[in-house]
Amino acid sequence: MVRYPAWDQDEARSIVSGLSHLEGATLPILHALQEEFGYVDPQIVPVIAYALNLSRAEIHGAISFYHDFKTSPAPRRVIKLCRAEACQALGCETMVDHLARDHGIDVGALAHSHDVAIETVYCLGNCALGPAALVDGELIGRLDADLLAALCSHHGADA
Ligand code: FES
Repeated sequence: MVRYPAWDQDEARSIVSGLSHLEGATLPILHALQEEFGYVDPQIVPVIAYALNLSRAEIHGAISFYHDFKTSPAPRRVIKLCRAEACQALGCETMVDHLARDHGIDVGALAHSHDVAIETVYCLGNCALGPAALVDGELIGRLDADLLAALCSHHGADA
């Protein structure tokens, strides 16, 4: 997974001013910002609008029209937790309950909190070694509640 620097409004402003002279500068600016930071923070919208003498709505419109543009940073870690039948039989729902009860983490609703996205998937082809999950693309078997919680935490995310 590509690591991007944290959003820097001054740096973003200089990207805007460096490209604002271009004909049809909106898309080149948005692409350059996303290339630099991995997303286009909404706080730069008024700056782009002002620089290009366009409305904020026009800039928002361009960002939302092109689905490649992201408006928030990508999670540092993506966990796809299998909740299909075989993994259910091996306790995946108990882990989901444990995460919610003891760590306040809801699968699916987590999105960007804790900087980790945890999603439900149905069968990773690793049924015999369940509960299973894909963690940043790596297949993990025999997952347990403590390991899953560690993978979701900042501390565990660096492990
Ligand atoms: S049911 Fe979970 S890997 Fe197949």
